[in-house]
Amino acid sequence: MNSYHDKTKHSYDSVRTNASHMDWSTQPSQYKVYPEHYKRIKLEERHVEHKFIYLIGGISAKKSYAGGEYFLRTNPSAGALYPNELYFQVRGVEGFEDGVYHFEVKSSSVTLLYALQDDGIEANLNLKKPIKGFVFLLSAVYFRSSWKYKDRAFRYCLLDGGHLLGQMEASAYLKDFAVRHLYDFDKIALNSMFGFESREFFLSASIVGVPNAEEAPKALDLNLPRVDATGTFFENRVIEDAYHDTLVVHDKKRSTRASKFTFRKDVFEETMFKRRSIREMSKAGISRRAFEFIMDVAQESVMSDCDEKVEMYVVLNRVIDMPLGLYHDGRFIKYGDFSKKVGYLSLEQYHLGENSAFTLFLASKSENYQAMYQKAGIIGNRLYLAANYLQIGCSGIGAYYDDEVAKFLELDERYMILYGICVGN
Ligand SMILES: Cc1cc2nc3c(=O)[nH]c(=O)nc-3n(C[C@H](O)[C@H](O)[C@H](O)COP(=O)(O)O)c2cc1C
Repeated sequence: MNSYHDKTKHSYDSVRTNASHMDWSTQPSQYKVYPEHYKRIKLEERHVEHKFIYLIGGISAKKSYAGGEYFLRTNPSAGALYPNELYFQVRGVEGFEDGVYHFEVKSSSVTLLYALQDDGIEANLNLKKPIKGFVFLLSAVYFRSSWKYKDRAFRYCLLDGGHLLGQMEASAYLKDFAVRHLYDFDKIALNSMFGFESREFFLSASIVGVPNAEEAPKALDLNLPRVDATGTFFENRVIEDAYHDTLVVHDKKRSTRASKFTFRKDVFEETMFKRRSIREMSKAGISRRAFEFIMDVAQESVMSDCDEKVEMYVVLNRVIDMPLGLYHDGRFIKYGDFSKKVGYLSLEQYHLGENSAFTLFLASKSENYQAMYQKAGIIGNRLYLAANYLQIGCSGIGAYYDDEVAKFLELDERYMILYGICVGN
C-alpha cells in the first residue's frame, strides 16, 4: 500500500473530525492563460484536427447561479475544479504550424509556446523516431483541487488526469487513431523547462500519431516562463512529496494492444459534446445487454509503457435478468441486495451509490501509483461515455470510506481502492 494513499483514506470518523472548510476568498482560477504576445489559433468546430483537441477538454456547458456563472467541460472533474492542463507537440498536421502548444480552454484556442526547429519532444520522451501527429503532455496544477480536497487532492489530480487521457482516446477514435500513454520519462526535467516550479507537474505523455522513418531530432531544450495558473496558492507538502515519491516507475509492463470500440461515430461524437454527470438516480433498472456493453468498453485494453492491473468490482443493484450481488471478473463473489450498503460506502451519497443500476469500485495493488491511478481515470471515462452513449447516467464517486469498501470487497491490506463509479438512471 502506498503511504500517501494510506494517509488520505476517508473513514466514518475522519470525515466527522476533519471537516474541511473551504475558504472562498482563496478560490483559485481554473484557467491558465499565457501572456497576450504568444500566437494563438482559435479552434474551429469544422476543422477535424481542431475538433479533435476541443473534444478532449473544451467548454461544453454554461451554468448560471445567483452569484454568477461557471462553465463545464467535455471531461468530468471532481468538484468541477479542473486541476489539469494539456500541452502538445504537433508535427506535420494541417491547420497547425509545427510546434509546442498549450490548450487554452478559457478562449477555446491553442497557444503556440515554441515553434519547432531541428528539435522535438520525442528525444525527451526516449522515442527513437519523430512522430507525425500529436504528442501530448498532461500536467496537474494541484492547488485547484487541494483548495477544496486538501491532501486527498493528489488522487483527484490523477483521476481527473486519467479522464482527460480517456477523452483523448475517445476523440482519437473518431479519426481512427489509437493512443499510447507514456509514464516513464524524465518529468522533472520537463517541469523545469516549462517553468512549473513546484506548483504544476507533469503526470504523463500520450502519442496520437505515427513514427516517421528518420532518426528522432535533437531533444527540446526549452526555457518557458512561469505563468500563474491559479491566482491564489497555498503549498501542500503532502501532495508535493507524494508526487516525488511516486515518480520512479518500477518493473514496468508494456501493453501494445490497441483498444477496439464499436460505437457509431456520429452518435459517439454527439455523446462527447453532451456528456454530463447524473446528479441523482431514480432507482431505474437497465438491461443486461446495456450492462454488458458498458463493461466491455471499460475492459478494453489500454496501450501504455506501464500497464498496471486495475480490478473492477461491481455491485449489481438493478440490472434486469441478473442476480443482485457483488460481481468480479464475470463471477459473483456474493449474492444479495447490497444497494444500501454501497450507498453508505460512497460516503453516504445514497442518491448515487444506492439508487444506481450498478456501482463499481476500482482497486489495485500496483506499485506504480501514478500510472495505476491514471488508468483508473481512463476506465472511469469509458464508463461515462459508454453509459451516456446508451442514454444512461453515470457519475464518478471520488469520496468513499476506503477501508470499509476494501472489507466489503473482501480485499487484503495490499489493495488500494482507487475510485467508485455509479451507472443508472
Ligand atoms: C474523479 C471524480 C470524482 C467525482 N466524485 C463525485 C462524488 O463523489 N460525488 C458527486 O456527486 N460527483 C462526483 N463527481 C462528478 C463531478 O462533480 C462532475 O464531473 C463535475 O461537477 C462536472 O460536471 P459534469 O461531469 O456534468 O461535466 C466526480 C467526478 C470525477 C471525475
